[in-house]
Amino acid sequence: MGYQSEQTKQVYEGQEEFLAKSMKEKCEEFIIDGRIFDVIFAQQFDRAFLDNICKLADATRKMASTKEGSLKLQQLLPHKRAMLYFVQPSTRTFLSFLNACHILGIKTSESRGTSTSSEVKGESQEDTIRTFASYVDLIIARHPEAGFAEKTAWLLNHTDRPAAVLNGGSGPDQHPTQALLDIYTLERAFKDIGGIDGKNIAMVGDLKRGRTVRSLSYLMKNYKDVKLYFISPEQFKMKDDITGFLDGRNIPYVETEDFESVMPELDAIYMTRIQNEYADDPSKEPETYPEFFFKKEHLDIIKDTAVIMHPLPRRYEIEVAVDKDKRAGYWEQERNGMWLRAALIAYVFGVDKDIM
Ligand code: CP
Repeated sequence: MGYQSEQTKQVYEGQEEFLAKSMKEKCEEFIIDGRIFDVIFAQQFDRAFLDNICKLADATRKMASTKEGSLKLQQLLPHKRAMLYFVQPSTRTFLSFLNACHILGIKTSESRGTSTSSEVKGESQEDTIRTFASYVDLIIARHPEAGFAEKTAWLLNHTDRPAAVLNGGSGPDQHPTQALLDIYTLERAFKDIGGIDGKNIAMVGDLKRGRTVRSLSYLMKNYKDVKLYFISPEQFKMKDDITGFLDGRNIPYVETEDFESVMPELDAIYMTRIQNEYADDPSKEPETYPEFFFKKEHLDIIKDTAVIMHPLPRRYEIEVAVDKDKRAGYWEQERNGMWLRAALIAYVFGVDKDIM
């Protein structure tokens, strides 16, 4: 292994003022010509946006189901190029974004780690991202650092190469496009029973460090009469920033460690794994908590109309025997991710009307 220099730290003029802004002000920074341009936080989405993006995802997958429609989709953005910068492990977010780009005719390049980039020579995060923007129109980033996506999106919007940034997961903080595909999955599961409004939605597992459940919780403000159930070991309870957000919007939630006792009440059961990649010392933390598993026998006590979800990857949280049940929604959920992400990219580049 050759010499590796520490990454240079840079601070651009105005960057610290941006980072100190309120969430509302930050979200406004990412709107250009009245449309969301950079997708960084779940708080950027309102009900109209969510309803529209779900319809657009449906229209995209329908259009792609024929050769003629698929070719038309590929002709929408052949003049655009995207960089997938995934420096934290990923299977489905990476592949669904990559294929979403190809569905729309976008050419792609990728980096799946810093070891082959000039970051090892000490290039800063900012200069690295500016370099991507020299070659592409869209940067899709997964990064272990919570503030990476917002920092770099803000920076590019203040250069002569404002490539759009889509946050594909930022540390233990947010995963906004996962939250969009989760909403799309819930909408499809509940399409014959009144949609998401009025439903009881449980999130189970490591809620403290799970960015998917954090982003999805923010989106609940957009739905009427939803009740949340946060089911986790005491040490992995949902953090105060999320419960404070829900309190401020009068969204009811219960916190419990007794999964089985609430199962019959639930319309959606969103399972997650323990996120021990963020532990100070992972060897001191169990990888699984069996009281928070969904087992085959539980299929007998949940509603017939319930949907079981998981952002995946799973460990042992859901028994594989559950996969065959019609209420197991997680494999469809990951497929929904590609269509939803194609719809999102089409929206960002303003070709959504050509699909609808
Ligand atoms: N759900 C999700 O983000 O999966 P990957 O880590 O495989 O991308």
